[in-house]
Amino acid sequence: MKNNFFAGDFTKLKNHWSDLSRAEKFLRGGTRAEVVNKVIEINLNLLMNSNWLDLGTGAGYIQSVINQKHGHLPNQLGLDWSFAMLSINEVSLHKIQGTYENIPIRKASINLITFFFTLSDYPSLESILENAGNKLDQSGSLIIVDYSIGDEYWETRNKYHNQIGNDNNKIIGNINLRDIHYFQKILPTNLLTEQSKIIRYEVRSIEMQSNFELPEKITRCFFYLKLKKTT
Ligand SMILES: C[S@@+](CC[C@H](N)C(=O)[O-])C[C@H]1O[C@@H](n2cnc3c(N)ncnc32)[C@H](O)[C@@H]1O
Repeated sequence: MKNNFFAGDFTKLKNHWSDLSRAEKFLRGGTRAEVVNKVIEINLNLLMNSNWLDLGTGAGYIQSVINQKHGHLPNQLGLDWSFAMLSINEVSLHKIQGTYENIPIRKASINLITFFFTLSDYPSLESILENAGNKLDQSGSLIIVDYSIGDEYWETRNKYHNQIGNDNNKIIGNINLRDIHYFQKILPTNLLTEQSKIIRYEVRSIEMQSNFELPEKITRCFFYLKLKKTT
């Protein structure tokens, strides 16, 4: 896999996510509501009945979508390394400032771990997934939702990567777009695939914040992957 803008440089990546205006943008969720609602619908029972650790929890957008429809879920933990993201996060959950490399939680103590829209910043995922898998208990699940290969917004943004946008800021477009096949090749031995889906829908680009030219309507494309802990 080709390196992206951050190329595994954690300081650069961490600084990117420490920007308060970026945190505010993530609080609003953009055009992700449909895929988030779909994944919640599929896993509502699991979400309701698990102790759930959301890695890269950010501004709490995912939890706010759940809370609006289903009320507050008990036993939610959210981890993020960005103080800006955690400070803006007003949903009621236990917040932990930490990293994927060093999750301050006992091994085999969590039923459900999620990564929403964060692993696409990483050029390689093997050790992150193995580490998360170690925190799952015997019947634990790991859910990953992210921008997929074919997502028209990120594919277009990638074309403009490194150019200056119409707000005079540099366009960062080369995140790592993946699909489900990629994970089959790199899954650590402690995880097995249980369920997977590609979720696509059209949005009006006026609803997106972008500093470059987009067609009036674009197709968003996401993958959803549910993994099970192997014993
Ligand atoms: C794109 S945002 C997504 C936030 C949230 N999951 C959502 O969907 O709205 C990615 C988040 O992951 C966090 N993050 C990225 N790498 C991390 C790491 N190694 N450890 C902890 N947090 C990390 C960032 O600070 C940021 O808040």
